[in-house]
Order: sequence, then structure tokens, then C-alpha cells
Amino acid sequence: MAKQKIRFGIIGCGLMGREFASVVSRWCHLTGVDFQPSIVAVCDSNEDMMNWFEEHLPSVTFKTNDYKELLEQNDIDAIYCAVPHHLHEQIYTDIVRAGKHLLGEKPFGIDQKANEAILKVIDEHPDVIVRCSSEFPFFPGAYQLGQWIRENKFGKIIEVEAGFWHSSDLNPKKEINWKRMVATNGEYGCMGDLGMHVLHMPLRFGWKPQSVYSLLTQVVDERPEGKGQMVPCETWDNAILSCDVKTEDQHFPMILSTKRIAPGHANTWFLRVNGTEFSAEFSTKNPKQLAALPYEVGGPQAWHIQDVPYTSAYQTITGGIFEFGFSDSILQMWAAFCDEITNGRENMQQPFYCADPQEAKESHQLFTAALKSQKTGNTITLT
Ligand SMILES: NC(=O)c1ccc[n+]([C@@H]2O[C@H](COP(=O)([O-])OP(=O)(O)OC[C@H]3O[C@@H](n4cnc5c(N)ncnc54)[C@H](O)[C@@H]3O)[C@@H](O)[C@H]2O)c1
Repeated sequence: MAKQKIRFGIIGCGLMGREFASVVSRWCHLTGVDFQPSIVAVCDSNEDMMNWFEEHLPSVTFKTNDYKELLEQNDIDAIYCAVPHHLHEQIYTDIVRAGKHLLGEKPFGIDQKANEAILKVIDEHPDVIVRCSSEFPFFPGAYQLGQWIRENKFGKIIEVEAGFWHSSDLNPKKEINWKRMVATNGEYGCMGDLGMHVLHMPLRFGWKPQSVYSLLTQVVDERPEGKGQMVPCETWDNAILSCDVKTEDQHFPMILSTKRIAPGHANTWFLRVNGTEFSAEFSTKNPKQLAALPYEVGGPQAWHIQDVPYTSAYQTITGGIFEFGFSDSILQMWAAFCDEITNGRENMQQPFYCADPQEAKESHQLFTAALKSQKTGNTITLT
């Protein structure tokens, strides 16, 4: 099959830059796709961060510590950008103005004002495809749950709960980094860091909160910095958002939680939907398991737990009996982005596209309202 070649540049070569880049070496896992990305250029303000890329990716022919130089390269079609949140506005808008497609990391701006500025530039460049990184819906269990939602299997929805939980911050000796500082991570704290992951599927299925009441907590007030001195840890550690969702035919409560300190959890993303005719739950805590409870009036209420096969959005060479993991979800998400560039939204090989700028905007509206709710103690209505 002829494949469209898509040449990528990476801006931000840290944790996520590397995670994303390594996936290109496993592109051969995908079968039947008509696109093939390569990574041709990298940029990081810290020279040393680019060494790994030079060592492992022979396709990289250009490196720079100035992202503007990278954007001047004509042989780059698209950018994956993974930099701290205070840089999103400037770098994302420059990428879009340079006419490069962008898969940018969440939260798409440090705050609502920055997000609005990014969206304005996107609107002015309709030919550029811009999507926001969110990989968990591509886990087979989550993907199947999404199909059930699309099929309207749930009857009257009783409630929805979605969350993303971590726990390494339980250790008060863990050193501070940019993700725990308001100037670089933003006032949203854990919501900006984890919230788009939690909202991607609910927003995709039209479950936009009409109002929110928030409980935000700061558990650890200070942390050691590099030299052992204690400095303030300013960001919200945990957030529980109690939302009211109204759609044309449904009205239900939705609890969203983003936690940096959920003891025992490492990268636990979950979605639970309870309905009068069907309930279902998926969590990356048990990444093979998908639970469902079909219900007929008066019948038994029994959860069915199955080990889901390795079947996500795009087919692979990997046997159905094998387990799916975090880097597989990035491969699938990246395939969805390339599919949209190659074939357009209408002709994608499968229906689940990456989180889009409108969904990122709606996440900012919710987080901003949640901050207001915390300050006032009131439930905030979203327009
Ligand atoms: N999708 C996910 O699962 C996931 C997970 C973690 C982080 N993230 C997101 O990814 C982004 C980056 O997070 P990270 O964990 O990779 O951070 P990181 O600190 O590991 O990496 C950020 C990199 O950006 C570089 N950088 C800083 N300023 C720069 C500039 N002006 N030009 C070029 N490079 C610059 C830094 O030197 C660093 O190498 C954030 O938006 C974060 O929210 C997403």
C-alpha cells in the first residue's frame, strides 16, 4: 500500500518527547495504514536533551535549541510539542502560523487567556490540523466503552465518573519541579496537568458540564528543591469536580477527579458509566479488564469481567492475546493524528479522532469555573 510520508519535528525533548519519539520505531506494528511518519528534526532549549534522539533516531537530520529555526525548515510537515505549560501559547501559535500541523500536549495554554489566544490563531489557519494529545481512550477497554456509548447502550444514564490518579507526590521528599509551580504549570495545578485526559471521552460524547462545584486540596505545602532547601509547593494536588450534565435526552451527575496524591495509584485513568440498561467500567489499573453489567427489568445484576483482546482503533500485528500498554496507546493516538492529516476527518479509517481545540477550550472553561467555585464556595454555572 502506498503510504503518505509525514515528516515530524519534535519541540521539547523531555519525558514526553522521548516517549512519543520511540513509538515511531514501532510503526511496523500497524497494519493497513496509509501513512508513515518520520522524525526529521528535534529542538530543546537544553542541548543535552537532544543526545538521546541523535543516538537512537537516524532519521533526525536537524537539531537546534531555538524552535523558530526548526519552524523555518521547509521539509517538516507536522510538529509534536511537549514543553512546560507557560510556553504553550507562544510556541503553539508560532507553530500554527508557520503552517505546520500540530499535535500539542495538554492543557493547550497555561490558563484560559492563553488558550483563547491559541484558539484565535488556529481559527485564522483553517488548513492546519491541530490536535491535543490524549492517549488513554485508545486503550482497548476504553475504546470498547466508547463504542458502547456511541451505540446508546446505557439507557437512562444514572451517573458518570472519570478520573486520573497518581501517587508519587505522597512522598514529601520528592523534589519540586515545574509541574508544581504556578508560574510554569499554572493556577489549575493538577487539573491542568491531568484534566484533559479525564474530559476527552465525556466531551466527545457531548457530556459537557452545565455547572461545577469543586473541592481542591493542597496536601503537601513545601518540597525540597535541588539543593535540599524547602520551597513552597503552590499547586493544587487533588481536585474533585462535581458536575451537572444535561444533553438533549439525558440529565445526570458527573464526578471528575484529578489527583496527584491518590495513595497506591500510578497513572490510573478510569471511566465508569452507570445506566438503567447497561453499566460499564474501564481502568488502566487493570489494563486488560473491562467490566460490564447488562440489565433487564427484574433480571439479575451481575458484572461481567472480561480480558479484552489487543484491539484498538488501528489494527496491528500484535496477537489479540497480548497485553496493551501506555506506549501502545501513544502509537494509536499518533496513528489517529496521521490518519486525519492524510484522509481528513470524514474519511478516517475509524471514528475516534484525537482531542481537538474545541475540547481543549471546554476543558479550560471547566477548570476556570472550578477555581472560581473553590474561591467562592459556590456552584458555578458554565455558559
Ligand atoms: N500525554 C501525557 O500522558 C503526558 C504526560 C506527561 C506530560 N505531558 C505534557 O507534556 C508536556 C511536557 O511535559 P514533560 O513531562 O515532557 O516535561 P519535561 O520537563 O520532561 O520536558 C519538557 C522539555 O521542554 C524543554 N523546553 C523548555 N523550554 C523550551 C523551549 N523554549 N524550547 C524547546 N524546548 C524547551 C525542556 O528542556 C524539557 O526537556 C506538558 O504539556 C505536559 O502537561 C503529557
